[in-house]
Amino acid sequence: MTRKDLLDIESLRREEIEHLLDQAAPFKELFTRSVKKVPALKGKSVLTLFYEPSTRTLSSFEVAAKRLSADVTTFDVPQSSVVKGESVRDTIATLQAMRTDYIIVRNQMAGIPLAIARATKASVINAGDGAHAHPTQALLDGFTFKEVFPEPAGKKLLLVGDILHSRVARSTSTLMRKLGVEVAWLGPGSLVPKHGPSEIKRFTDYDEAMKWSPDAIYLLRIQMERQSAPFFPSLREYTKLYGVTQERFKRISDQGIYIMHPGPVNRGVELCDDVMTYQRCLIDQQVENGIAARMAVLYWLKPNTGENTILA
Ligand code: CP
Repeated sequence: MTRKDLLDIESLRREEIEHLLDQAAPFKELFTRSVKKVPALKGKSVLTLFYEPSTRTLSSFEVAAKRLSADVTTFDVPQSSVVKGESVRDTIATLQAMRTDYIIVRNQMAGIPLAIARATKASVINAGDGAHAHPTQALLDGFTFKEVFPEPAGKKLLLVGDILHSRVARSTSTLMRKLGVEVAWLGPGSLVPKHGPSEIKRFTDYDEAMKWSPDAIYLLRIQMERQSAPFFPSLREYTKLYGVTQERFKRISDQGIYIMHPGPVNRGVELCDDVMTYQRCLIDQQVENGIAARMAVLYWLKPNTGENTILA
């Protein structure tokens, strides 16, 4: 089965996720060759449309598309007519006239990628919409997790931090559960949602969560930009209660627990410097795998090209 768009993880079946993770492996193998390019998407056009900042997702999508031989255009939102009040819909209509095959979109509002997907025959990939979803982050996380744990079912993943505002937490938790991984959330009570899947364990106490014996800990950034009011007393307090401080890091490394993080990292808040050079820190591996996972997604999706017209 193929799809036109990738908007979230919830709508993917387990077999589709496993197919994408399997597809990512040969693409990663390609990176070790002197020629890292294949002609799979030759003649196709990919447009990146980011209304929010990005380091990893934007650049890895560009590299992924270029390694598949697609033509890539980066739509520079701050330099566009968006700043003069042009709506997303009108921007898409304009871009549609250019007959783009893939639109990769990040927006601060949940649901914008879905609205674009409904309005165009191009394949739309959600690169992060508000606190809703970040499906390609989840896929690269699943791919990385499977590299470490080839049989992920029954392994335990503890996500720590601002779960409430995190599209990564939502998508990655969903994907991991579809792979049979046991998932738990840890953070201040105000940032750990009570609603959502009952199979996910909730912790507000660090030591309690560590007694659960996670195989990997997934640290999240505190998303101040999405918090309209304070959710905890201070960042210093947060670090004291939930950060991987030097003392906690020693226990984590003694137990051989893996560390993951989607980036960007706030050193001194959710983790101390030493985590970044820890042998079982998977952060760089996640970034590298982001390219392979996104190549797999671009290769899998099937845009309704030919007649790229606005439907609505
Ligand atoms: N993980 C992630 O989405 O990072 P960027 O915001 O840098 O793209």
